[in-house]
Amino acid sequence: MHDTLLLFGATGDLAQRYLFPSLLHLLRDRQLPEGFRVVAIGRSEHSDDGFRDWLRNRIQGEDRNAGALDDLLRRIRYHALDLQDIDGVAAALSQYADRPAVSYLSTPPNLFEPACRGLKAAGLLEAPSRLVLEKPIGHDLESARAIDATLKSALDESRIFRIDHYLGKAPVQNLLALRFGNALLEAVWQHRWIDSVDIVVAETGGVDGREGYYADYGALRDMVQNHMLQLLALIAMEPPAAMDADSIRDEKRKVLRALRPMTAEEAGNDSVRGRYTDGVVDGKAAKGFGREYDVETFVAVRAWIDNWRWAGVPFRLVTGKRMPARATEVIVRFKPVTHWVFDRPDKQHARPNRLRMRLQPEETIELTLMGSLAAPEWGATELEPMSLDLSMLPPKRRIAYERLMIDALKGDQTLFVRDDEVEAAWRWIDSINAAWRAAGTPVQDYPAGSWGPPEAADFLPTTLPVNGGRKP
Ligand code: BG6
Repeated sequence: MHDTLLLFGATGDLAQRYLFPSLLHLLRDRQLPEGFRVVAIGRSEHSDDGFRDWLRNRIQGEDRNAGALDDLLRRIRYHALDLQDIDGVAAALSQYADRPAVSYLSTPPNLFEPACRGLKAAGLLEAPSRLVLEKPIGHDLESARAIDATLKSALDESRIFRIDHYLGKAPVQNLLALRFGNALLEAVWQHRWIDSVDIVVAETGGVDGREGYYADYGALRDMVQNHMLQLLALIAMEPPAAMDADSIRDEKRKVLRALRPMTAEEAGNDSVRGRYTDGVVDGKAAKGFGREYDVETFVAVRAWIDNWRWAGVPFRLVTGKRMPARATEVIVRFKPVTHWVFDRPDKQHARPNRLRMRLQPEETIELTLMGSLAAPEWGATELEPMSLDLSMLPPKRRIAYERLMIDALKGDQTLFVRDDEVEAAWRWIDSINAAWRAAGTPVQDYPAGSWGPPEAADFLPTTLPVNGGRKP
């Protein structure tokens, strides 16, 4: 396992909220090597001690009191660097090239290229050193390719780790276990037995503080291009021959390549864009996302996978900010039984089976089947939906980044996104942006605290909490 981590963007929001807390948990659980050290790189001026104090004040909750925090802070050195200054970066960081390193770019994508050049000049991209990148990788297919060309001029694909933190979430790994560890599910995992798939990522938070980024990206590029398409790919992929990185990524890529490009004619039927206006979320007033930004904070898309397994099965992808409740879930709806033999003709009672995987706020997996709880009178069998709890998750909740950091330090690429997946995902996203432009698809307003514009009602699964998840 590599024991040197260079963290670019160390004073950024992601580093504060997730990356340093993940390292803290890994140290506490003795998962990191003896000589583990962190080189933190940011723009703000701090001495080593100044940065340590700054970080200590930002670590929240129980983590503040753990002995691991002192241990982590002791291992950190800080450098204030301007990444555009290649020579300056190389001069400051070459001292860390004495051991194989993992450089983690938690920076905007426009800094990937200069950072890469600085790291290369410092000798920090020589094999077996590795590079980790945060999404978004580019803004469209063309810019993603340009970034990739820069990366490839410094190191090869086997040492490039593109993070999608959704792949580090425990229920996502459980999905693979369920799909490929059970003949029962795999046998029905196709268009003959599956009616539709819903993938929902609803957040109560808004764009706050990231207006500039969001105005350029919007929810389609920020959420669908990566997190939601990764979930879709894992649900829809063929069984890999083995659980190694390339076998899995080969199959994911095939699914992404099979996504039917959207045309301008379909844009109106298969997608809805929304932008939140002033409203109330969690009982608090929330300000709208400025009307001057012609970009979506909510998107609903019906995706079609043109292959043998999924012909005719809609995958509804819905994501939005400032929704009434946090809900990240995948719902696989099976088709109803072909012939209803029970006494009650009432089709209400023939509720189709459903597999529901929740990632947030709770991590659960439940399979809903029909069963007979009681026969109220002789001769009549009443069926009721019954849910089996299939959650097999470890009791300790982990930050998704913990698993991904360990894998990057170890060199396991299974949960990282490969270059051709990123390209295939952009190709589809670009088709949607082009369809929206050609069709003039408007961004519809919705009040913060609602489930998006009314036009999106058909895209929403019935499992979403009513009344924003609060008691009436
Ligand atoms: C990030 C997006 O990648 O994922 C954010 O840039 C979003 O806009 C976040 O809020 C959601 O992640 P999670 O793990 O909170 O669902």
